[in-house]
Amino acid sequence: MTARILVMPGDGVGPEICREAVRVLDTLATDHGLDIMLEEALVGGAAIDATGDPLPESSLEAARAADAVLFGAIGGPAWDDQPRDKRPESGLLRLRAELDLFANLRPAILYPQLAHVSALKRDIVAGLDIMIVRELTGGIYFGKPSGMHKNANGKREAFNTMRYDEGEISRIGRAAFDIARARGGRLCSVDKANVLDVSQLWRDVMNELGREYEDIELTHMYVDNAAMQLVRAPKQFDTVVTSNLFGDVLSDAAAMLTGSIGMLPSASMDANGKGLYEPVHGSAPDIAGQDVANPLAVILSVAMMLRYTLKRPDLAKKVENAVGYALDRGLRTRDIMDDEKQIASTQEMGGAIVDMLR
Ligand code: NAI
Ligand code: MG
Repeated sequence: MTARILVMPGDGVGPEICREAVRVLDTLATDHGLDIMLEEALVGGAAIDATGDPLPESSLEAARAADAVLFGAIGGPAWDDQPRDKRPESGLLRLRAELDLFANLRPAILYPQLAHVSALKRDIVAGLDIMIVRELTGGIYFGKPSGMHKNANGKREAFNTMRYDEGEISRIGRAAFDIARARGGRLCSVDKANVLDVSQLWRDVMNELGREYEDIELTHMYVDNAAMQLVRAPKQFDTVVTSNLFGDVLSDAAAMLTGSIGMLPSASMDANGKGLYEPVHGSAPDIAGQDVANPLAVILSVAMMLRYTLKRPDLAKKVENAVGYALDRGLRTRDIMDDEKQIASTQEMGGAIVDMLR
């Protein structure tokens, strides 16, 4: 069946990098029999300028109808003085909520050719390949009650509620176990079960699921220790699963182990395999329109789409290998440059990947 893919380029470098990702998808369609149909829709500042709304109804409908969304980036100084619900970012937040994308997948991969980009010692990070699975639609960011008021002593007081039910935990748990199974077979669940009741339930449910996934090695780690271990010896991890708050912090820390924001893809998935795929970086207004942005983060997001939604792990591997070959050949965009390598523009890097795929 033909898969429908909606491309939402957005703002800043979004359109430039998405153009390269679309060339990759087109090449896979023409040369490798990938059965897809591409559409495009407005989102973010581009949508505000055209319609006044960062996520117009027509874009939301197109996203609902699609099997996968490829998302560029949104935001920029042009829209910074808008009220919060009219800012580009609210378009992405609404899209994630409307599509019920509860599983956020953030790989932290450091290609061995780029070990110089990391702030950490080469032997600690070279060849790093971990996957952080973060619960995205529950937990303390959404728990009620929340708010701020004056308490009985006349002091300002603020509160949020960390809440998960076992259904929410087991659905992210299952997603993570399945991912671990397709990777190295090891899953580390990160919580704070020594202090938080929510974490005790989290740990209980993970252990219960573990009995259904006997081929997966399940371990548990407290979040404070996980933060230390990520910096001390990150290669001990394969797949990590954690709640919304802990995952927000740990996934950014893990991303920075690699030091190369232009290389990091992500996915946000629903329960039926539908996903929104996007680079981790933003719209990079400082370099937009200059043909210097690194398109590899969004191209690696295409690889994730191939693996998780389109169920073509063979083609995902092809794309990832093509990226490896381009780096082997010495091609570097500005953000991952080192001495004596060849500087590549956005289009040259995209073109190199397309050539490899042919
Ligand atoms: P950013 O990720 O856009 O840029 C941070 C730094 O990394 C900049 O120096 C930029 O030039 C560089 N960079 C980012 N992507 C790159 C690429 N592909 N190749 C080479 N260099 C790259 O984060 P920043 O500057 O904090 O935010 C800029 C705008 O993006 C803001 O409006 C922000 O709200 C928005 N944003 C959007 C996100 C999204 O669409 N999911 C995520 C993060 C920020
Ligand atoms: Mg964050």
